[in-house]
Amino acid sequence: MIADFHGGCVRNTANTDGEITFQVVGQRMRIVTSLLPELMVAKSDETDIAVVVDVLRATSVMTTAFASGVKQIFTCCRVSEAVSLANQIENNDQENQRPLLCGERSCKPISGFDHGNSPSEYTSDRIRGQTLIMTTTNGTKAIEAASAAKRLIAASFLNLPRVVEVLHGAGTVHLVCSGTDGRVTAEDVLLAGAIIDACTVEYQVVLEDDESRMAQSFWSSCLPVSERSPWISLKNGNEKQLSQLLAKSFGHTLGGANLRRLGFEQDLQRCAQIGTQSAIGERSQQNPTAFGLLASK
Ligand code: MLT
Repeated sequence: MIADFHGGCVRNTANTDGEITFQVVGQRMRIVTSLLPELMVAKSDETDIAVVVDVLRATSVMTTAFASGVKQIFTCCRVSEAVSLANQIENNDQENQRPLLCGERSCKPISGFDHGNSPSEYTSDRIRGQTLIMTTTNGTKAIEAASAAKRLIAASFLNLPRVVEVLHGAGTVHLVCSGTDGRVTAEDVLLAGAIIDACTVEYQVVLEDDESRMAQSFWSSCLPVSERSPWISLKNGNEKQLSQLLAKSFGHTLGGANLRRLGFEQDLQRCAQIGTQSAIGERSQQNPTAFGLLASK
């Protein structure tokens, strides 16, 4: 019989004298959610894995770039920081190869940069084997805010199943939503909810805060399915239908509406494709922060 015991998972067994003994058989995963980096109350240095979420579009771009064979992505909060890091890397590189400058301000490409923040730009013919330096309005700030975590990965709907796999065995998981200009945006909350839904089905999980519970019920109410939960429906092969519903719902979110207004409607479809990529960017160094491709098992 399995019983709850101080957040752990405990099996009680009777020995030959009939005495009950307790044996710890596994640690429960504890999930904490911040709907904005500014709302982080959890101490991120107690976090085993921070999962940074910026569905529209920073972490979807990072996933796509790694799937397209990018070597490394540096992330910076400021444009000036990105430019001086590019110069530094170019000067230190024996072949004087300049990294590609990428990102956005107010959703638009930054003047003088090589790429904007649309996943469609990150094709393998353009970026395979390259180093990128990325700065975005909200996503790269969320990465910095979660920097004390022991490990840090970039999550999107594109790599959702792989993110869930990577969380296997984690103690404390902190889901950090980037939001839009200091405001909560629903697409990030949906992904946090999707990760929680999946982990709840797959693992022994304790939700540590109301934000986690709110994200989970928001995700479940947004994607009505006949199965017990959207994650089970995804596992039953309904990714296409659910991705379509998700893309539609992005049209009404704060981040989605901003992108639609500026003509980036197609990015909503692209970022809603659940489980189409298995690449994950994981932080590989700090000061300056850089990500590499998390090797598959
Ligand atoms: C951000 O980090 O602020 C976003 O990814 C915004 C965008 O893609 O335009």
